[in-house]
Amino acid sequence: MARRIIVTGGAGYIGSHVCVELLRAGGKALVIDNFANSSPKALERIRDIAGAGAELLRADLADANDAARIIDAVKAFRPDGAVHLAGLKAVGESVAEPVRYYSVNLPATFTLIRALEAANARMIVFSSSATVYGDLNASPVDETGAVGPTNPYGRTKLFIEEMLNDLARADARWKICNLRYFNPVGADPSGRIGEDPNGVPNNLFPFIAQVAVGRLPRLKIYGDDYPTRDGTGVRDYIHVCDLAAGHVAALDYLAREKAPGAQCFNLGAGKGISVLEAIAAFKRASNRDIPHEIAPRRAGDIAEIYAKPDRAQKLLGWRATRTLDDMCADHWRWQSENPNGYQD
Ligand code: UFG
Repeated sequence: MARRIIVTGGAGYIGSHVCVELLRAGGKALVIDNFANSSPKALERIRDIAGAGAELLRADLADANDAARIIDAVKAFRPDGAVHLAGLKAVGESVAEPVRYYSVNLPATFTLIRALEAANARMIVFSSSATVYGDLNASPVDETGAVGPTNPYGRTKLFIEEMLNDLARADARWKICNLRYFNPVGADPSGRIGEDPNGVPNNLFPFIAQVAVGRLPRLKIYGDDYPTRDGTGVRDYIHVCDLAAGHVAALDYLAREKAPGAQCFNLGAGKGISVLEAIAAFKRASNRDIPHEIAPRRAGDIAEIYAKPDRAQKLLGWRATRTLDDMCADHWRWQSENPNGYQD
């Protein structure tokens, strides 16, 4: 069992849930975060929920000036491996500022690799994305699907996957899991940690939740003329706690396999849900109105994508167990008890 884990981006939405899951499984975390899109309060909340097993190193993995300090701290922590989530992640922003995306997401990974090498802990579970599949595959898509991301953010994810694959091919001591997330939503059932996006949310669930709580007036549905069952976009929403459990399963898998090399897994629930279905479920869970209107399609969106998650079930012994109603109830609990996120 891998027990001492570096969690880059560990104060963020997914990272905070990964920390809780790790601590609950008896592990310890060293969170490396620069709080570019997260709050130190998440660390306090992690402590409240799951005990004091998460330390913090406030540092920027992409800043060369921080590298020596990071490498020293990683060595001192004596880790078994890392979960690597730190990075920029807004699709639209990456189209406008591609060089920034490449010059943050890739160098952050180089520094992590150097630090793990120095600590003799060659194990990474990497936060990749279903976005690497682009628009090239019919759903359900499995890990043999063609890759072709349609924006710079997605390309950083694919390049990092490929780099980690090369690393594992070059040196069999490296153990890698590239986890391709579908659409994480929901929150820890405690209501203490959750998604707290900077500014107006880009993604569907945080937007719906802010409409339900009265922070935003109405939701725009980006297109109702897609070739889907009700014309709106279909995605594979997965409860963030299921996703977090997938990371612990991946760490356990890498720890127990002698020479796994680099492996790739879809983490999705395996079920397509439309925008209208998501709105209806959130309305039921929150008992609030979700005013909405039909708007033009959003540039770069695809009609439908959902996962075939069988490989993760077979090799990691993991599958998503929480329902859409669970996702909505838990997302709503977080949003209604923290209407302004961590600022309250
Ligand atoms: N949508 C709306 N209105 C909104 C926001 C979203 O109708 O205000 C629709 C979208 O058109 C889409 C669905 O809701 O049909 C989901 O959109 P999200 O933005 O929540 O999620 P995406 O699937 O577009 O993007 C997510 C991640 C990306 C990742 C991508 C991989 O946010 O980081 O999945 O497929 F790249």
